[in-house]
Amino acid sequence: MKIAVAGTGYVGLVTGVCLAEHGYNVSCVDIDNEKVELMNSGIAPIYEPGLEELMVSNMEKLFFTTNYYDAYRDADVIFIGVGTPEKLDGSADLNYVYSVALQIAESIEKDCVVVIKSTVPIGTNEKVESIIRKNLKKNVNLSVASNPEFLAQGTAVQDTLYPSRIVIGVEEESTGMILKEVYQNFEAPILITNRRSAEMIKYASNDFLALKISFINEIANLCEIIGADIEDVALGMGYDSRIGSKFLNSGIGYGGSCFPKDTKALHWLANFHDYELKTIKATIDVNENQKLKLIKKSRKYFDSLNGLTVAILGLTFKPGTDDLREAPSLVNVPIMLEDGAKIKAWDSAGVNNFKKVFPDEITYCKTIEDTLTDADICFIFTEWEEVKNFNVLNFSKLMKTPIILDGRNCYNLVSVQKSPILYDSIGRETINNLEFSFI
Ligand code: UDX
Repeated sequence: MKIAVAGTGYVGLVTGVCLAEHGYNVSCVDIDNEKVELMNSGIAPIYEPGLEELMVSNMEKLFFTTNYYDAYRDADVIFIGVGTPEKLDGSADLNYVYSVALQIAESIEKDCVVVIKSTVPIGTNEKVESIIRKNLKKNVNLSVASNPEFLAQGTAVQDTLYPSRIVIGVEEESTGMILKEVYQNFEAPILITNRRSAEMIKYASNDFLALKISFINEIANLCEIIGADIEDVALGMGYDSRIGSKFLNSGIGYGGSCFPKDTKALHWLANFHDYELKTIKATIDVNENQKLKLIKKSRKYFDSLNGLTVAILGLTFKPGTDDLREAPSLVNVPIMLEDGAKIKAWDSAGVNNFKKVFPDEITYCKTIEDTLTDADICFIFTEWEEVKNFNVLNFSKLMKTPIILDGRNCYNLVSVQKSPILYDSIGRETINNLEFSFI
């Protein structure tokens, strides 16, 4: 079976490499020549644990090219894994998907199955099928299937090699059989459904996880007000297997390439059909507010950050990635700069990307110690291991005023109790061991 994959971002490249690992010959198509050359030399253009190693060990089965015609012409299965970014109105931009559909129509010379892996609004599979059919150059049999991915950044390879489930959305049984064959060596439950349900499974899964995060963040905010501890509350809830303990970490909100985009896209789609998804609207609203939680907390200690040295630990939307998309840091830094703060920042992987947005406004430090030296206040935006393993006693040794606002609850309160610091985290008691008071 010959496989082609359109797009070499997180979805496309990881899919292509994992299918090669399962023995298939895979042609990966991208419009970016530089990226293609890089991949042909064995370098992965994205930072993802295990990806480059797997890519290199399967190089004889992987072909990277900008020539879509060669890749699609005689493929049995073509996966579409291009981006579906958010438009200004919150809906999903399908231009990349549609342009791949046209290229497929121009190129295919034998019967094939086109599989949409990108997260696309409900009904897109039908549109893609009609675009391809209208523009077909050769008389071939074609079917379009939905097969959403559920990979998370940082664990994308593992999530793809060992998926929680394989969802296949088809209109004909024969197409389902072909895809079952593709995935025959994957150990995971396979759910075959119609295309609209498969498209919905992807949105509903992501939006439910985002809802779970916004829910726990609201409970955390209430815990702070009434004197309960969110860590214990989440632990107590998580023992109930109907609730589950995962995705109950409160913090300064979710970011990344999926949750923000997919909540807005589903909300937009429902509105378009005159239906208001109230839970999703609340999820989005809670998250927007939550991202500003630490800035609001800082007002308890300083009425402005003007002239203060602010230390930031963590810039990426989560640890284990260099991705900044929708990261809380991106909305907080401009507010701090407008306030007149002098910012020093550290991140384990995201500094180069952050420099593209803020090249000169911030001092980037190589170590956590340098970042904290002489700082008036510290904001923790990402729970990198380096931050979690940092000895809390060192905050007071290095900072001018050791006020730590922790947006990811990196330290347990018992260890903080013994430190001469002010530690204000999410949904927990504020520990103030400083000898002076604030405004
Ligand atoms: C997510 C989904 O997990 C994945 O299944 C889907 O295919 C794509 O979107 P990803 O965006 O890579 O993956 O990261 P994830 O680990 O899910 O975290 C997303 C955001 O939620 C991060 O900003 C993270 O900090 C936040 N989060 C996650 C919480 O605030 N609390 C939690 O308990 C879990």
